[in-house]
Order: sequence, then C-alpha cells, then structure tokens
Amino acid sequence: MAGARPKITIVGAGTVGTAAAHWIASRQLGDVVLVDIVEGLPQGKALDLQQAGPIAGFDVRVVGTNDYADTTGSRVVIVTAGVPRKPGMTREELVGTNAGIVRAVVEQVVPRSPDAVFIIVTNPLDAMTYLAYRVSGLPRERLFGLSGALDSTRFRTFLALELGVSLQDVQAMVIGAHTDKDMVPLASSANVRGVPVSQLMSAERLQAVVARTRRAGAEITELMKASAFTAPGAALCAMTEAVLRDQKRVIPCCVYLDGEYGERDVCVGVPVVLGAGGVERILEVALSEEEERAFRASVAATRELLAALPA
Ligand code: NAI
Ligand code: 2OP
Repeated sequence: MAGARPKITIVGAGTVGTAAAHWIASRQLGDVVLVDIVEGLPQGKALDLQQAGPIAGFDVRVVGTNDYADTTGSRVVIVTAGVPRKPGMTREELVGTNAGIVRAVVEQVVPRSPDAVFIIVTNPLDAMTYLAYRVSGLPRERLFGLSGALDSTRFRTFLALELGVSLQDVQAMVIGAHTDKDMVPLASSANVRGVPVSQLMSAERLQAVVARTRRAGAEITELMKASAFTAPGAALCAMTEAVLRDQKRVIPCCVYLDGEYGERDVCVGVPVVLGAGGVERILEVALSEEEERAFRASVAATRELLAALPA
C-alpha cells in the first residue's frame, strides 16, 4: 500500500476500531489498515467498508490483516485492542487483562512506525496510556490517549439538548481521568457562543448535566449491553484529522504530565493543541475551586490505578 496518502493503522477491529475506520475513510484522511488477532475479522470488516466507497464517495484503500508487517510506515496508529466493559463493570476493572494486550500491541507497532503519532483507546484509558508511553519510549507529544474528545462531545450534546440550542453552538471541555467517578466536566467555562451556560440554566440543571456526562459511557452500556462505539470513532477521527491536516485543534487528551497543572509522572486528560507533531502544546486553563479539587482527586485516583499495573 505504498503511496502518497498517509497510512492510518487501527489495531483492534472491534466496534470502536471499525467505527473509527468508517469515519476516517469517509473523511478521506488516508489509507486504513485494520489489524486484529482474530483471523478473518479485520479482512472482512475492511472489505465491507471498502465496498461502501463507490456509494459513499470515498477513494482510500482499506486493508484488513493479522500481520503487523502491513502497518509499517504508518503516520497515525490507533490502539483499540482489548476487552470492553460489560454492564455494571467499571473501566478500571479491565486493567489486568488489557495491560498485557496493550503492551504486546505497542511492542509490535512502534518499531514498524517509529515516527507515527499513537492514540491509545483501550480502557482503563489513563493507565493504558501511561503503560504504552513507558513501554514505547516515545516522546509524550507522539503518544496520548482518547478521553476528552469523547467526554467533551457528550458534555456538549447534553448541554445543547438541555438548552434547546444547536449542537454546534455549545463549547465545553472535560478533563481529568476517563472514569465515571473522576472525569471533570468544566462547567465554569462551558458556553453557548461565548455566553456562560450558568446564565442560561439553573445550577441544579447544570449539575444534572455534569453528572450525566460522567456516566455517559455507562448509560449507553446499560442500555445496549455493550460499550459505545460511534461517538468514540468520531472522536478518534477528529483527533486523526487534527494531526494529519495540522489543524492545531484544541482537544482535551490524556497526556503524560511533566509539571503541568502541578503534576508529574502521570497520564491524565488536559486540554492540548493537536497538530502535525501530535500534542504540540498543553494548555493550562483556570479551574474553579470545585474543578481544581475534582482534578486533584482524579489524578490521585489515576495514580492508584497505575500502582495496580502489572510490573
Ligand atoms: P471489541 O471487543 O469490540 O474490540 C476489541 C478488539 O480487540 C477485538 O476485535 C479483539 O479481537 C481485538 N484484540 C484483542 N486482543 C488483541 C491483540 N493482542 N492484538 C490485536 N487485537 C486484539 O471492543 P471495543 O468496544 O472496540 O472497545 C475496545 C477498547 O476500547 C475497550 O477496552 C474499551 O473499553 C475501550 N474504549 C475506550 C474509549 C475511550 O474513550 N478511551 C471509548 C470506547 C471504548
Ligand atoms: C466510553 O466512555 C467505554 O470508555 C468507553 O464509552
């Protein structure tokens, strides 16, 4: 698949990997390689998606494979390999199983695409990003995790629905850990075209939206007895596009902190500028007292989870 189009590898041809491939192909960001350990699965998924091209109007190549040699020279690598949670489970309960999978995948993909930007998706996200960062030896700019892009689009959606305004006109971010208990929706800076949402809704309604945002993934898992994939795929597509098109998008991502926000040696969600180099800048934004407390608690919970990582 050598050519001028960038290669985007997606490891894990499950629901999230396939949704990401779908959005990425639709936006013609580059050729897509889907990798999985299950024989036939990525090949079938890739053929199915490729055959949508003539109707959907995209003209990129989609390849499914069980062979990491096909990933060589990727510009972006997305890691979704692992087990999703079942109803009633927390993301944190996946740590033991998924740590082994993420380690094995990173050891396969990084040497074949040493200049790529790597986006980790597997849960528990903050711990898996930290593990992948340590195992890969990559600079933190080029290895980070999906959390805030998804959590923020959920927050924006719930605010827009509550206020009866366009989804496009609400701006809001979620930082902190990608867990039900510890993510930190930034209500103080959420706004509709610059108007603070606190001027447009009661404190009680805003708190209800914040609470729903924290449990947004769990709400979907309980309803359909499976983990979300469409919005996660769209969030991954936006992150990939920001890198490939050097957009300098401001998107919260899970990134290794080295003194920013007063924290070191931990991966957690913070707003960053995403461009061709990956995380080009970490933005340190003002937090309300309550958000600051929640962010510290989020980092503390993440550190506890890191301690549970297999050596
Ligand atoms: P899934 O079960 O549908 O797909 C996972 C795929 O990984 C399977 O096809 C499986 O065969 C493959 N896999 C397992 N071990 C592998 C290995 N060693 N090498 C290559 N492939 C391997 O799961 P789904 O729903 O796609 O979720 C994937 C992960 O992403 C889960 O851990 C889930 O919790 C997480 N997730 C994270 C989100 C985030 O915002 N960070 C959002 C949604 C899901
Ligand atoms: C989500 O937030 C499970 O992390 C996944 O939907």
